[in-house]
Amino acid sequence: MSYQARFRVWRGDEAGGELTDYEVEVNEGEVVLDIVHRLQATQTPDLAVRWNCKAGKCGSCSAEVNGRPRLMCMTRMSTFSPEETVTITPMRTFPVIKDLVTDVSFNYEKAREIPSFQPPEGVAAGEYRMAQEDVQRSQEFRKCIECFLCQNTCHVVRDHEENKAAFAGPRFLMRQAELEMHPLDARKRRAEEAQEEHGLGYCNITKCCTEVCPEHIHITDNALIPLKERAVDRKYDPLVWLGSKIRRR
Ligand code: SF4
Ligand code: F3S
Ligand code: FES
Repeated sequence: MSYQARFRVWRGDEAGGELTDYEVEVNEGEVVLDIVHRLQATQTPDLAVRWNCKAGKCGSCSAEVNGRPRLMCMTRMSTFSPEETVTITPMRTFPVIKDLVTDVSFNYEKAREIPSFQPPEGVAAGEYRMAQEDVQRSQEFRKCIECFLCQNTCHVVRDHEENKAAFAGPRFLMRQAELEMHPLDARKRRAEEAQEEHGLGYCNITKCCTEVCPEHIHITDNALIPLKERAVDRKYDPLVWLGSKIRRR
C-alpha cells in the first residue's frame, strides 16, 4: 500500500533554519531514511543527511523523529499513521552543520580523554587470561555502535552547553565502566577518575540514555550505577582510607 505522507524537515545551517513541509510517497516496509532519500531524489537534492549502512550498525543516521532520538534507518514508517505529520530534526545537543547533519566531534574529544587499556605488567602478550564471566560482562558494552543518541539525550548536556567540558556523557562513562570491570587493566583507579575527572557525579541516573539506545545496552544499570558504587565503596572503605593516609605521609 502506498500513500502520500506529510513530512516536516528542519532545513538550515549553523546560522539558523526552519521546518519545511513536504509531501512524499511512502511504500510498504519503508523506514524514515527511505523517505529522506526519496525527498533527495525527487524534491530536495541538496538536503544533507548522514548515513552509511542502512542496517542499524554504523550509527550514522541519528536524528530526532517527532522529537524522539532515533536511528532513521531503523524507524519504520508503519510506526506512524498515514495521517500523521512526521517531523525530522537534527540531534539537538550537537551543533548543526547542515540540515540533518550535526558536528559530533564533542564525542571524539571525550573519547580521547579516556586513557586506553593498560596491559598488566609482567604478563607477555598472548598470555593474558580472564574468566569467561568477565568477558561476558563487557561484551554488552562492546555492542555500542557510537550513534551518540545517548549523548544527545542526556539532560546533563542536552540543554546545558556549560556542562560539556566537565561531563564525558553516558557512552564514555560506560567505556570507563568497561575498563574498570576489566580484570587485567592495570590502571586501577578508573571509577575514581570517572568521578573526579569525567563528571560521573553529574549523572543522576534518570536512565534516558538507556531508553534511547538502539542496541538496548543497559547503560545505567550495568555500567553507570556499578561505576558509581565502586567509586563510593573505595572512597569510604576504611582500609583504603587508612592506606591513602599512610601513603600521604
Ligand atoms: Fe548509541 Fe547505545 Fe552506544 Fe549510546 S551506548 S552511543 S545509544 S549504541
Ligand atoms: Fe544522563 Fe543516563 Fe545518567 S541520561 S543522567 S547519563 S542515567
Ligand atoms: Fe547506519 Fe542507520 S545508516 S545506523
